[in-house]
Amino acid sequence: MSQQSNSQDDRIGPIGRMLYLAGVLGMHVARLRAADNFDVILDDLALYENVLLRHGGKRLATATALEIGYGQRPFRLIALNWIGANAVGIDLDEPVYRLDLPRIVRLLRANGMVRTAKSLVRRVIFDPSEYRKLASVLRSRYGEGRPFDARRLLSGDASAAAAWSAIPRELDLVLSEDVFEHIPPDRIPPLLDMMAERMRGDSLAIIAPMIFTGISGGHDLDWYPHRVNEPLDGRTPPWGHLVGQARPADTYLNELRRSDYRRLFERRFEILEEVDSYHRLGEQHLPPQRRAELAGYSDEDLFANKVRFVLKKR
Ligand SMILES: C[S@@+](CC[C@H](N)C(=O)[O-])C[C@H]1O[C@@H](n2cnc3c(N)ncnc32)[C@H](O)[C@@H]1O
Repeated sequence: MSQQSNSQDDRIGPIGRMLYLAGVLGMHVARLRAADNFDVILDDLALYENVLLRHGGKRLATATALEIGYGQRPFRLIALNWIGANAVGIDLDEPVYRLDLPRIVRLLRANGMVRTAKSLVRRVIFDPSEYRKLASVLRSRYGEGRPFDARRLLSGDASAAAAWSAIPRELDLVLSEDVFEHIPPDRIPPLLDMMAERMRGDSLAIIAPMIFTGISGGHDLDWYPHRVNEPLDGRTPPWGHLVGQARPADTYLNELRRSDYRRLFERRFEILEEVDSYHRLGEQHLPPQRRAELAGYSDEDLFANKVRFVLKKR
């Protein structure tokens, strides 16, 4: 297979390779332009502030907060700290926000040569301008803020007790966006136990997984929420991931339903709010025949996508 790819490379020649590299660069620039829009981060902060107000929690700017799964670009965490929150994050992946030799060695060990090289190129060439833009958006909305300390980016498995040693003993707020669907079902109860241990009676958790059974739940880029309303045009069938008609996801998914999360959360938490960010997303792709093929799933399953649970310790 790799021999075949090499011989294809040879046939492409230097001009083909240059065009290919220009294409890759173009895609990065397009992605960068798309990422210029930090409204979603500002919207998240406003939403968290409103949730805290509704349920009598602390003000966001004075809260001690934990973000579970901050991702490769910790924009939300940077924004929380900018406005004054004492926020730390934990992610399974080694962060590339701060680059020093020990971290590069850890990246190489954890992610291998190719992923490390990609991360480094992105961090050195593309990320600095994004972080500058984020700072300018935050400055114009909130005024001057606190510079971000990379030591707030912890790495480890949030469901393992060892990862919690550097997390503050008392948390006012626990946040997690698009992460819980990547955690194996048997690791979620220990994670919830540890969250509950660090939360007080008036602390809140805002946990928003992308639910597997929704039209976007298979994590296929073609079926991400912003593309659902486009014409089908050769895409895999809608909800194909539920009936073996989809490309395999390139990430681990626990396949939990909305009702499974409810059951797991209710062991330790009272569910104060449960809101889907979308209303019956993809309904136009569900004529009676397709609905019949998905008979094993309820409407609640099929129309659950990004569901935000607001939790209070029991
Ligand atoms: C889809 S990304 C979401 C990133 C970010 N929350 C966002 O909204 O852009 C999922 C992240 O969850 C992290 N993750 C998955 N399982 C985890 C675990 N057990 N503990 C900590 N982080 C985890 C992954 O490393 C990844 O960065």
